[in-house]
Amino acid sequence: MSKISSIEGRILYNSRGSKTIEIDVKSEGKFLGRVCAPSGASVGKYEAVSFPNEKPEESLRIIQENSQKFIGLESSDLKGIHDALKSLDNSTNYSKIGGALAFAVTIAAMESASKASGQPLFKTLSSESSFKFPFPIGNILGGGAHAGPGTPDIQEILICAIGSKTIEDAIETNLAVHKELRSVLENEDSSFTNGRGDEGGWAPKLENQKALEISAKACENLGFTLGKEVSLGVDFASSTQWNEEKQKYVYDRSGFENSTGEQIDFAANIIEKYKLIYAEDAVHEEAFEDMAELTAKFPNILITGDDLTVTSKNILTKAIDSKSCNAAILKVNQAGSLYDALEFASVAHQNNIKLITSHRSGESTDSQISHIGIATKSKMLKVGVVGGERIAKLNELLRLSEHDLIRGMAEI
Ligand code: PGA
Ligand code: ZN
Repeated sequence: MSKISSIEGRILYNSRGSKTIEIDVKSEGKFLGRVCAPSGASVGKYEAVSFPNEKPEESLRIIQENSQKFIGLESSDLKGIHDALKSLDNSTNYSKIGGALAFAVTIAAMESASKASGQPLFKTLSSESSFKFPFPIGNILGGGAHAGPGTPDIQEILICAIGSKTIEDAIETNLAVHKELRSVLENEDSSFTNGRGDEGGWAPKLENQKALEISAKACENLGFTLGKEVSLGVDFASSTQWNEEKQKYVYDRSGFENSTGEQIDFAANIIEKYKLIYAEDAVHEEAFEDMAELTAKFPNILITGDDLTVTSKNILTKAIDSKSCNAAILKVNQAGSLYDALEFASVAHQNNIKLITSHRSGESTDSQISHIGIATKSKMLKVGVVGGERIAKLNELLRLSEHDLIRGMAEI
């Protein structure tokens, strides 16, 4: 047991160069938990607000003025810390204090508790006695809100080494595909600059279908069969395309529009043609019934909600009632506090919804989400393939492979 002795914060920058908040929680004057909050670019309508009035300084001022509310609490008492945050902000979306603050305070407290107890963070977050590694899934080619004009409308083409038996092999395979894709892109287009999007995926001037074909080719060049050693995934991030006025999905860069029915067929064709293991937000964030069509059609594919479910246990309950998805993204900062996110995870587990713990496009170099992915029994950990802030999470998995309590890969 260790009591919080101080809580301090500062303004830093995330991987996109935007201001964010970092929080230090210390227990017993020496056990430091330190967390720097990430932030998204394709943000769900119903997710927690990052900062009050978009000002990280405001969140910093609030924690400085209210540190006494936290000092003396047990650093491992996640509920107590969550309640202290809620006493400052009882809104549903953390609009008064900022979800980024709730994220950083709760995770930093748990990290401090884990140091005080001499246990790794994943063990502090879970009462289980054995754990498995989630499969790393990462962006190899990006467009949409994460890359500029000329790139695909689709936000992310992802790689996952589903045939790997070890975390080392899974990470190495993803890296090999990312690297091979660069060669394929260079061969296709001699003017390809090797430019990358926000999450480290290549950002070539390519239309959606061609981008998928080339990604599949990179896997085949390495001797892999799609669906065997590796599988592709897609984050359609369809809310970016959805035009409320037209009631259509507008693909500006490729120059076409999809009605709701056409969008479902568009996604279904891609899932079938490229043998996807994973399809995220294939329709917009309020299209619960359209998602249900895809879930019914593809029971063995992870039909995943991100903007659809926004790590909210209430919205996930709605998605479960309408059978909208069989998998869901867990982004702690969409929910706000880690307590909120773990409640979401428990609703997911009770209803056989597979979890994918995920980074944000604007990240810090922290690696606590690798532990959160393990502790929440996530099937996948979506943290990119390359880039310092992405590699930090993958390297943490490699360090954790030295740990006896984690054995083997998750069953997808
Ligand atoms: P974001 O997007 O972090 O930019 O919101 C990532 C995603 O949509 O999965
Ligand atoms: Zn997404």
